[in-house]
Amino acid sequence: MKYEFKGNQGDFYVENPDLTSYLYFPLANESGVMSCVSPDLGGDSKMDQNSFFMPPVSCESLHNDKSSRNVWCRIDGTELWSLTGRSSWQQAQLFSDNKEPVAVEAGFMHHKVTRTSKHLGIKGVINSLVPATGEKVELMKIQIENISEEYKCLQVVTAIPLYARSADNIRDHRHVTSLLHRIKTKSSGVIVTPTMTFDERGHKRNHRSYGVFGGNESQRPVGYYPVLEDFTGEGGNLENPKALYEIPLKPQGMDYETGGYEALGGLCFQECRIGPKEKITYFVAMGYGNSEEELIHSCEQFLNERAFDSSWEQTKEYWNQKVNVRFRTGNSVFDRWMRWVSFQPMLRRIYGCSFLPHHDYGKGGRGWRDLWQDCLALLMMDSSGVRQMLIDNFGGVRMDGTNATIIGNGQGEFIADRNNITRVWMDHGVWPFLTTELYIHQTGDLGILLENNSYFKDMQICRGEDKDLKWTTEDGERQRADKDQIYSGTILEHLLVQNLTSFYDVGEHNHIRIRGADWNDALDLASQRGESVAFTCMYGYNLKGLADFLEEMKVQGVEEFEVAEEVRQLMAGDRTVYDDIRKKQEVLARYCRDCSHSISGKKAIIKGEELQADLRAKASWIYDHIRETEWVTSREGFGWYNGYYDNSGNKVEGETGAGVRMMLTSQVFSLMSGVATDRQVKEIVKASDAHLYRKEIGGYRLNTDFHEVKMDLGRMFGFAYGHKENGAVFSHMSTMFGNALYRRNASKEGYHALMSLFDHCSDSEKSRIYPGIPEYVDAGGRGMYHYLTGAASWYLVTVVTEMFGIRGHYGSLVFKPQLLKEQFDNQHEASVSLIFAGKNLKVIYRNPRNLDPDVYGITGISLNGVPYRIGGDWSIKREELLNLPDQELHIITVDLNLE
Ligand code: G1P
Repeated sequence: MKYEFKGNQGDFYVENPDLTSYLYFPLANESGVMSCVSPDLGGDSKMDQNSFFMPPVSCESLHNDKSSRNVWCRIDGTELWSLTGRSSWQQAQLFSDNKEPVAVEAGFMHHKVTRTSKHLGIKGVINSLVPATGEKVELMKIQIENISEEYKCLQVVTAIPLYARSADNIRDHRHVTSLLHRIKTKSSGVIVTPTMTFDERGHKRNHRSYGVFGGNESQRPVGYYPVLEDFTGEGGNLENPKALYEIPLKPQGMDYETGGYEALGGLCFQECRIGPKEKITYFVAMGYGNSEEELIHSCEQFLNERAFDSSWEQTKEYWNQKVNVRFRTGNSVFDRWMRWVSFQPMLRRIYGCSFLPHHDYGKGGRGWRDLWQDCLALLMMDSSGVRQMLIDNFGGVRMDGTNATIIGNGQGEFIADRNNITRVWMDHGVWPFLTTELYIHQTGDLGILLENNSYFKDMQICRGEDKDLKWTTEDGERQRADKDQIYSGTILEHLLVQNLTSFYDVGEHNHIRIRGADWNDALDLASQRGESVAFTCMYGYNLKGLADFLEEMKVQGVEEFEVAEEVRQLMAGDRTVYDDIRKKQEVLARYCRDCSHSISGKKAIIKGEELQADLRAKASWIYDHIRETEWVTSREGFGWYNGYYDNSGNKVEGETGAGVRMMLTSQVFSLMSGVATDRQVKEIVKASDAHLYRKEIGGYRLNTDFHEVKMDLGRMFGFAYGHKENGAVFSHMSTMFGNALYRRNASKEGYHALMSLFDHCSDSEKSRIYPGIPEYVDAGGRGMYHYLTGAASWYLVTVVTEMFGIRGHYGSLVFKPQLLKEQFDNQHEASVSLIFAGKNLKVIYRNPRNLDPDVYGITGISLNGVPYRIGGDWSIKREELLNLPDQELHIITVDLNLE
């Protein structure tokens, strides 16, 4: 398989994708319709875990299940042909010379598949989309063309299984739940409205209807196959359905009602005779409704060419506009591939981390760290609304510094854990600061730190180690100061609570305890004695970053802050405590006890300068401690940072009898935080190149092979080596590695990390995925868990803020490009269009002498053609930007040359 991009938006074309397995393509909208289609229109569609339109698919069912959006065509009353290739005889020809040519053309949220049967003289095209305008439908336009020299009689029959219930029922009472189905045929389609949603803890009346509707300007179906087993027939199946052998066909009529069976969106159209080059066209809408009337209304409006075509255009336009960052470099494939990467965070906001075929876990929603990291991309593309989103998200922080892990559908909605799962991920406290930091720099809005929000409260206290038995759900999910008063503190206080509690939450090597896991969810077997040095680095970075913000606030005249009285004890002046593990644990335990049910509600005033000094002292203690204790070397002379201690209390990385043990995460965060010294940057790169880099699978692996099922560290060691969290090229971490290297001015090395991933992913013969970045690349080079990955946000942020070096500094626009000479086009230019300070900007870098970043510097900037320079630096002040007219495109030209 090899795709080709068409045009500049990222639309692509690929021939014979049916010869590649596990391919799927997302079609969705912001009203909650989440579909996915494989090249033969398998896949599924759903609104949530309990509302699956088609039977849920996971990766293997993509090719092994027979359910699909099948469209049959009966030719001259005898020959049966599937427009999607889903007949047993077309499948039997897949590997022969008679294989039918197939092509997919697709762009954001629209997909078109074309299949030709030379032998039957017929060509079928199906366009699929989910309208961006928000109707709860998935649409298809079906066109069949007579490409022979003779007249043909064609009759079209759709066969789309209507599963109409919860994904849970695929193995839990699948048959019993079909007994709830009430099925009827209406003039334009088949409707299923189950009587109940099945749940043995309490069945509920169901109100959701599902239906398949079809027709065109002049026709409605002439018959219906509403019951699956009547269509497949005894001994038949969806790829060889017995009903279609009958001459003439014997479908049901209109207003037929039945119940208690698996349902089918089987619509049978009038047979029609068409001449050479003539076409017939039908439209199909697969919809969801809270009532049958609503369902019929939202579907029927699309059953004509004008409505479908305009929805197709609107949908394309909507998403093309929404993905409003555009790159132009010397590599146009990279530029268009980036369109998909930029689009992916939008997909994750819609699908969460569930609901695409590889993501067959979870029930929707996103995890805490994903919530925060997805905001990074939002800050690059549409920062309106981000302020409130951040403030609301802080409402998920608990007073003990941990946070809610179940995130509701509404913004700022967190759900108390009622399943007694007390897992604490130690990295969770890191992400809010990183996102807030980017937000503050992009917008200059330091004031957000002084906004207030409440804290999350549930039974879980003392960082997952205890339960507050006095708490009941009736108390509500917000921390109280006493029975009546909900406690509220500043965003700054929330950040302090997260980072200071972590500072004290140390294990026996005085690094922060790993508890349930860190970023790597699969490091989940070291909760007693495990420590994550990797994320301790980042807590150090955060403490330092908070101090920097306080310094800036002082400049702006804010010198005192209010914090909850209890929080003060985490700012203790006695620095001898830092080296004393037991004392640190005591400080934390005391604080957690004080906050275990309600808090006092009293506020203490602290001086900004004192707080700053305290934060800096803690940060430098962390930096020094890690530098002194965690640098490891191999016999070959390579050096890198150890990032973990296991549940037996042992250092994880280094060289042992079992060989070299090295983890990428440890390097990423020691680099990103600045714990690694400048000299160590180069050493870490050398060690990573030697032990982790594999060009043929996309770059830097997550770890070396430990050759051990390490039950004292995590389930990852149960995975075969080279897969997922055990040694795959895990895009998220490889991208953060690139980001960290750029941050340390290692431009070539950062580029190398990002490009290795790009080269592999965009080489579809190797990665076997459509454009975009997958969660990881497996041992065989296949891109896995496509689309829904935090890697996309990080990749986008890294390309904009590091590679192009275009970013905010307290709201002003600064330029620190690290583009290599090979990234400029043949005019020696590279550009990006993006929104900053609410203005449409196009930044063009000119590098006439073809220099690399280690030698070029900025020698001139012009804004809309006028040379620009204020003061001694090359930034553009925010006020200047805010004065620019809104709707226009503003061109900023940045000259790069020998300084
Ligand atoms: C996924 C999860 C992420 C987790 C990571 C490693 O990564 O979504 O929360 O940190 O696995 O276990 P992603 O899909 O974001 O690349």
